[in-house]
Amino acid sequence: MRVYFDNAATAPMEEEVIMAMTTTMREVYGNPSASHSLGRAAKGVIENCRKQVAGFINAKASEIYFTSGGTEADNMAVRCAVKDLGVKTIITSPIEHKAVLETAKELEKQGSVKCLMVDLNPDGSVNLLHLDDLATANPGSLISLMHANNEIGTLNDLEKIGIISKSHKCLFHSDTVQTMGHLNIDVKTFGIDFLSCSAHKFNGPKGTGFLFMANHLKIHAIITGGGQERNTRAGTENIYGIVGLAKAMEIANRNMADDHAKIQFLKNYLIEQVQKNISDISFNGNIIPEKSLYTVLSVSIPPNDLNEMLLFMLDLEGVCVSGGSACNSGAAKGSHVLEALKVPDDRVALRFSFNKTNTTKEIDYAVGKLRQILQNSLAV
Ligand SMILES: Cc1ncc(COP(=O)(O)O)c(C=O)c1O
Repeated sequence: MRVYFDNAATAPMEEEVIMAMTTTMREVYGNPSASHSLGRAAKGVIENCRKQVAGFINAKASEIYFTSGGTEADNMAVRCAVKDLGVKTIITSPIEHKAVLETAKELEKQGSVKCLMVDLNPDGSVNLLHLDDLATANPGSLISLMHANNEIGTLNDLEKIGIISKSHKCLFHSDTVQTMGHLNIDVKTFGIDFLSCSAHKFNGPKGTGFLFMANHLKIHAIITGGGQERNTRAGTENIYGIVGLAKAMEIANRNMADDHAKIQFLKNYLIEQVQKNISDISFNGNIIPEKSLYTVLSVSIPPNDLNEMLLFMLDLEGVCVSGGSACNSGAAKGSHVLEALKVPDDRVALRFSFNKTNTTKEIDYAVGKLRQILQNSLAV
């Protein structure tokens, strides 16, 4: 048996998405920049997708820039805010995705910007009082804070961050890679200036995503060499990927309430089962449904002889999860998220991340195998 609980790393593609993409591959082969009829047809397909995607987040089509995924969208937002929009300070958090964190740190190293880290609450959410203090002292900064953390699932209150951002004339970027397609996102209500999306996290194709950028902002491309994406991102468009993204978003939005209820039930069931079967278990981040993304659960395993081998042994039993440890010693490369949250480095984290196709039977199997493996090294 193989059970897949690594959907936050990437989720299997929807059959309907594959069909939409293959039809496009076969039939829409013109270069969207070409002026003949086949080129115009391809361009039309992209523009329809742009309109559709924009509608799901209450944006205008002209505010969507297709990219190669979340990493590129994060890079565009952070780099262009500094390069083109006069940002001198970036306010971010130590548990952002590396696409934001390493980009911001690299710019700081070059002397282009100063980076300030906002304090976190014990569950990994942003300390809003500290954020307000930092923004008050540094008006006009770029605030880059993610919606849900990809390792622990804790959610930030984007509406409140948006209010703080606007009241200090800051720009607000949010990496919504883990929440897009899973939660309703409204760029107007949240006061967002930049937002990053990646299709493969909601059953779409890998290597495609978009940056939302509010219409009042004007940036210059970081990938140059063509006029695509309104001179903002050069390169012949990944038309199949864009079609797949739009289709995956349509399906996710169509079924969001049902999927949410089903997956939250699975997450609750896993919480119950690990608590029942393994002693001294705890969870990283918040597990209260309103404060935590329903697709992610980070289980903190008590100290044992196996540590990082645990993932490997689960894999041998057909259980696909991801994980890591804090590595506070600095000896090996560990999780920067667990380290920032001061999780003891002898507690390995197993991240279970769900898809609507998962079942309680699969959870029973995974918990059974986990219990069996730990039995030799723990008194469970
Ligand atoms: C929060 C977050 N941001 C950005 C990314 C990068 O997205 P992509 O894989 O599309 O480059 C990921 C993917 O792991 C993520 O979880």
